[in-house]
Amino acid sequence: MGIDAIIDALGGPTQVQALLGVGPSAVSNYRARGQFPEYARVRVWQALKARGIMVDPETLSFEAPNTPQQDTPQIGTTDARAISKLPLEPTILLIISGGIAAYKALELIRRMRDRHWHVRVVMTASAQQFITPLSVSALSGNTTYHDLFSLTDEAEMGHIRLAREADVVVVAPSTANLMAKMAYGLADDLASTVLLATGAPVLIAPAMNPFMWANPATQTNKKLLQQRGVRFVGPDSGDMACGEDGAGRLAEPKDIITATEALLPGNGRLNGLKAVVTSGPTHEPIDAVRYIANRSSGKQGHAIAAALAKEGAIVTLISGPVDEPPPGGVALVSVKTAREMETAALAALPSDIAICAAAVGDFSVANESAQKIKKSDDGEAPTLALRQNPDILATISHHQVRPRLVIGFAAETENVVDYAMAKRLRKGADWMLANDVGQADAPVFGSDYNLVHLITAMGNEAWPEVSKQEIANHLIDRIATEFNR
Ligand code: CTP
Repeated sequence: MGIDAIIDALGGPTQVQALLGVGPSAVSNYRARGQFPEYARVRVWQALKARGIMVDPETLSFEAPNTPQQDTPQIGTTDARAISKLPLEPTILLIISGGIAAYKALELIRRMRDRHWHVRVVMTASAQQFITPLSVSALSGNTTYHDLFSLTDEAEMGHIRLAREADVVVVAPSTANLMAKMAYGLADDLASTVLLATGAPVLIAPAMNPFMWANPATQTNKKLLQQRGVRFVGPDSGDMACGEDGAGRLAEPKDIITATEALLPGNGRLNGLKAVVTSGPTHEPIDAVRYIANRSSGKQGHAIAAALAKEGAIVTLISGPVDEPPPGGVALVSVKTAREMETAALAALPSDIAICAAAVGDFSVANESAQKIKKSDDGEAPTLALRQNPDILATISHHQVRPRLVIGFAAETENVVDYAMAKRLRKGADWMLANDVGQADAPVFGSDYNLVHLITAMGNEAWPEVSKQEIANHLIDRIATEFNR
């Protein structure tokens, strides 16, 4: 299939730009060269497949190279005839690793089948100690693969094909061991080999004992994987089967489904873009037990992070202490102080988008006491010396690896638009969402509603009062337009 025919089949050059996240000149260059760059071929193949056009993933031609003459597809090569028999619904490769949460994978398969997704499953040896390949196959409607060296499995579906034909690879539950293997590129069984061989987006739903999850080794592996674009959903917090309490429970199947949906080809308008979002209040310690805080609930920032993730962006949500649960599919970094928030935000760069929705405390206590401050007998109250906190939005806006789009919020009680316009210039942001926090009858903090104006270099636009969720969706529409998606 020639490159011009492929571009036409995908809906024209603009669609191809959106699919690959490139500009018009890149697409012209591909045309001139007569081919897509290697990294783009899997995406193009997936998009063609989603439109019912079956081509070889390596050459994007109708014929696979070295197509074997015999009836059985060769191990490790792509067989065009087998591909042409694939169903049109997205193919999810679910990898189940060992752990008590493995039984929840059965429910997950059912929810995936409800959506008419084609589900192929790979189980590790330890997963089979908890659930059987028979029950998995009964629910997925497909053979369950578990042995890298099984001749039958390899003949039917080589590990390279398993890896290549997946639209999304979901690891649920993922053990600490499998995460460590992925981080270090080990490939000593079918699951880890497929994970090393795939070019599809990978979503990990970890489940393990809270101490194992909190262990610096696991956290370092998680960070490493996230930096390479692997997405995480969960783990959730709560009672564990091992009798302990903390973060380590497998995310709910519905959250895993939502996070998977965002990764399906063509589903997310912001696919592949990196975004960092700050949310919630900060707590600035006074002494060992007291702190200065504000009433921010984190609802708006969390809603924005969730909406970005739903559109396929790779989201780091940096949140101060809030009751709001973290949305599925985002990497949550929990912080307390403004300085911690700044460190986490800068660690998330480079990023394409930065949205500062946090109500960062402007001041911290310079004479913070390590011990609880006691009342004095003479009735004299202590004096707190305050120092100014770093301005995270301004720092990101002026950073040498500045995100392409930097968005801030301006909480104002009067002259909302004028103050927000001045704030946009002062802080160097591209856009400011100004909200009026001075309305006695409609408080913004903690409320589900927010009244905002969008301030850009082009001027001011009032948005109707809608829920924080709708504001998030509206903002994502604008961001998608800005990125030509
Ligand atoms: N912000 C920030 N770091 C700070 C203070 C604010 O990143 N130390 C960000 C907020 O997340 C928000 C924007 O700056 O996106 C504006 O916050 P706001 O509280 O309205 O502004 P202030 O800088 O506090 O200005 P002022 O007190 O003069 O209104």
